[in-house]
Amino acid sequence: MANSILPAAVRIVEMGPRDGLQNEKQLVSTDTKLELVRRLERAGLKAIETTSFVSPKWVPQMGDNAELLPRVLAAAAPGVAYPVLTPNLKGFEAALAAGAREVAVFGAASESFSQKNINCSIAKSLERFRPVTEAAHAAGVRVRGYVSCVVGCPYEGAVAPQAVADVAATLLEMGCYEVSLGDTIGVGTPAGIRRMLEAVAKRVPVVKLAGHYHDTYGMAVANVFASLEMGVAVFDASVGGLGGCPYAAGASGNVATEDVVWLMNGLGIDTGIDLEALVDTAAWISAQLGREPASRVARAVLAKRAKTACA
Ligand code: HMG
Ligand code: MG
Repeated sequence: MANSILPAAVRIVEMGPRDGLQNEKQLVSTDTKLELVRRLERAGLKAIETTSFVSPKWVPQMGDNAELLPRVLAAAAPGVAYPVLTPNLKGFEAALAAGAREVAVFGAASESFSQKNINCSIAKSLERFRPVTEAAHAAGVRVRGYVSCVVGCPYEGAVAPQAVADVAATLLEMGCYEVSLGDTIGVGTPAGIRRMLEAVAKRVPVVKLAGHYHDTYGMAVANVFASLEMGVAVFDASVGGLGGCPYAAGASGNVATEDVVWLMNGLGIDTGIDLEALVDTAAWISAQLGREPASRVARAVLAKRAKTACA
């Protein structure tokens, strides 16, 4: 079902402050996270996943959620959404108290990953998400859904596309406005991503799907392009390629936001994002973490700037 007509615009959901920083060993200060969000807003990001309301024992890096979110929202940029992860009702209630207007529930297509990530089976997780979506809708809060391990699982290997479709369809039926498909460990290649999307698209309209591809094997940009050709027009990405997953050893960050923007610019597809400002943000947050940006595009843009400055 390749669709050769590419969209005029795509929506990019920025993952840096959440998926990116959740996996950093050194604790990143709340002030630094706040500054990261502000820089991302200035670069033109319209959806910035800000933090997660999970157990601080499980993910200490997100332990400042109740301080960070209100500070972000106190000076929210117009038209920008600040979704947060909420695995259960406890997390949802804490997120709501902190002012969240959009939350995300996160399930998996692999039983072992579900157990390691959220300490319950897939069926149990879906049971826990239902009251979250009901409470959210009653409070006028939007809910996004995630499915992890859509191609491969660090514990079980290959994952059947049908298993992904089943979880995605249940999340949609619960009222998630969009389902983001996570190649959590970045093992996907375009052929596998297409097979998975074909199965999911039979149950969930493509306009309600997002691609969430980690870049462990350098295939994430190719997977974004394969998904674009199949009609997907929403992509999750992380500035500077930050991140990984605490429950998927060896997984690297999401596809870098600047790599996706470079691809879209080359295709003439609008993202509303200023590439130069984004690269500045990638360089800034990477410096805060004591390293260079992981992404090829950030490195190339920075190298070109340095050369121009010397000429
Ligand atoms: P659990 O231990 O099964 O929960 O954890 P429980 O209900 O048995 O409670 C145990 C303790 O946790 C209790 O505290 C609860 O109050 C507390 P205690 O009495 O021991 O002091 N608790 C909470 N505290 C804060 N916030 C909460 C919460 N819920 C219970 N919401 C739980 C279940 C889901 C909380 C736990 O397993 C957890 O926090 N897991 C972390 C999951 C996570 O953040 N993973 C990374 C994000 S997912 C991801 O990165 C994938 C994605 O990017 C897509 C992709 O790439 O595939 C989205
Ligand atoms: Mg992820």
